[in-house]
Amino acid sequence: MAKRIDVSGLTAYYGSHKAIEDISMTVEPRSVTAFIGPSGCGKSTFLRTLNRMHEVTPGGRVEGKVMLDSEDLYGSGIDPVSVRREVGMVFQRPNPFPTMSIFDNVAAGLRLNGKYRKSELNDIVEKSLKGANLWNEVKDRLNKPGSGLSGGQQQRLCIARAIAVEPKVLLMDEPCSALDPISTLAIEDLIGELKERFTIVIVTHNMQQAARVSDRTAFFNLAAVGQPGRLIEIDDTERIFSNPSVQATEDYISGRFG
Ligand SMILES: Nc1ncnc2c1ncn2[C@@H]1O[C@H](COP(=O)(O)OP(=O)(O)O)[C@@H](O)[C@H]1O
Ligand SMILES: [Mg+2]
Repeated sequence: MAKRIDVSGLTAYYGSHKAIEDISMTVEPRSVTAFIGPSGCGKSTFLRTLNRMHEVTPGGRVEGKVMLDSEDLYGSGIDPVSVRREVGMVFQRPNPFPTMSIFDNVAAGLRLNGKYRKSELNDIVEKSLKGANLWNEVKDRLNKPGSGLSGGQQQRLCIARAIAVEPKVLLMDEPCSALDPISTLAIEDLIGELKERFTIVIVTHNMQQAARVSDRTAFFNLAAVGQPGRLIEIDDTERIFSNPSVQATEDYISGRFG
């Protein structure tokens, strides 16, 4: 099958500190890939190299190649802003624009991208909020501030904002770690629905969550503190959690470290 993402030999630095080294993997369209591994092994760093956000950090530098379909994301002449439109991101802490209404939060990315008629904008905002399983809860208060919603609703609002511009890929960095269990389940259900339309990569420290939501799981690890993180193995989630190829993966998923 054609790959949506094809990473080869990716190394990323913060100044002189090499955070991750020589990572290669592929991701198929309309799938969910989970990144697991101990804290500090570079999951977030690697995720941010997939939409050129890593280089926004001072000293952030990338070597290697990331292909999105047939586009070389680090190729010359590629606009990082357009990359971030194709590869959207949802963060650990829901971060709606606090002074904006629910409607404007979802419309924000669209307004940056071009001109839409009011009716078009209404349609896309409604579709995105429905897509994020939030519409029924907010349809009567679209003009109220997004910051007035609960944490779980705010995270779904951020997902609605991300999908409104129809990205190819949605990156999620521990999107449930600030949420209660019910809101977490709502996001996990949503991920199952969104993968019909988007390719999803999610970092999670929750093993059960990785097992529940993902098709493929990638285990990252580092040899010692200060050493760069590496991809240890990536395989079907079922296999990673039942019969991984590498002992370190087995040790990690059975809770022996990390
Ligand atoms: N903004 C930053 N500046 C310098 N070093 C960083 C920065 N963010 C992360 N690092 C370092 O990069 C390594 C990987 O971190 P990170 O990607 O956050 O790991 P994870 O998400 O797996 O916990 C760590 O050694 C961390 O200290
Ligand atoms: Mg992280």
